[in-house]
Amino acid sequence: MDIRFVKREVLKEKPDQKNLGFGKYMTDYMFVMDWTKDEGWKDARIVPHEPITLEPSCVTLHYAQETFEGLKAYRTAEGKIQLFRPEMNAKRMITSNERLCMPAFPVDMFVEAVRALVKVEEAWVPTEPETSLYIRPFMFATEAALGVHMASAYKFMVICCPVGAYYAEGINPVKILVEDELVRAVKGGTGFTKCGGNYAGSILGQVKAEKMGYSQVLWLDGEQRKYVEEVGTMNIMFKIAGEIYTAPIEGTVLAGVTRDSMLHLLRDWGYKVNETRLSIDDLMKAGHDGTLEEVFGTGTAAVISPVGELRYKDDVVTVNDFKIGELTQKLYDTLTGIQWGKIEDRFGWTQEVK
Ligand code: COI
Repeated sequence: MDIRFVKREVLKEKPDQKNLGFGKYMTDYMFVMDWTKDEGWKDARIVPHEPITLEPSCVTLHYAQETFEGLKAYRTAEGKIQLFRPEMNAKRMITSNERLCMPAFPVDMFVEAVRALVKVEEAWVPTEPETSLYIRPFMFATEAALGVHMASAYKFMVICCPVGAYYAEGINPVKILVEDELVRAVKGGTGFTKCGGNYAGSILGQVKAEKMGYSQVLWLDGEQRKYVEEVGTMNIMFKIAGEIYTAPIEGTVLAGVTRDSMLHLLRDWGYKVNETRLSIDDLMKAGHDGTLEEVFGTGTAAVISPVGELRYKDDVVTVNDFKIGELTQKLYDTLTGIQWGKIEDRFGWTQEVK
């Protein structure tokens, strides 16, 4: 792919790596490519990161035809930069786009675009411990039209920002509220895709949880409100009587790259992994009878987030005395060890950019 480069006159000042937070500081450049019905993908370019212009009748602003991805570039101790399983993000975006009737962005072009942008933004990949460069590829309809239909023009873009921990709690346990009224996804809907609309619909639950002193929502299945599915921005796993439980990928749950990597590690370590429906009643029961040993969320942005408390209606369960579990810590150390190049990558998950 030929990528045109438009140089920025003045580079931005880099933020303090000790206070990055999440998603606050955008880098100097962004990748952009356009699609039209007649010409397909065209004009790959890396240009200064700046506001874009959209016609107010642009389809996306009205009907949310938008999908996105999230991955990270990591700085190793030797100063190299590596990506973690970028093909998985590329493939998932194709899956999301199919559901939303958007054109596929080919896997090789996706990886090439990400690699090219990260190379240009090399100096933005932070070196402080626990930091990385978060990469956000996204696609949206650009056609100006108010009819609801598959659009005739789209944009694929990639932006980046150096980040620290996603949650203020970092790797400390979070409190989670089980949402028993609102739902996130039903079979046949868009729950398995990474589309903006899924997140828009989740914000009310998040606001409700925060008002009650909880930092995240645990969503139940949309039909019976009986089975645990996923947390606001993460997949979720439970260690019950020595075995791992997590919701299956059956149309309502996002196929997380971190989820898949954790399940690989867990199976490799000999754990029995149950990708099966777990009812909220069984989960709370396990919390009370002492068999619920650990609970943790997994996601690219959050990495792994231990859960210290679960509230379902008036029932409250404290997990592992509100301390990070041994297995949760081991998973965090192993996964981030591979990502930051401190541990040998036996799975071929990482790829060097520079
Ligand atoms: C990620 O983990 O990369 C995500 O996309 C979650 C996000 C909504 C912060």
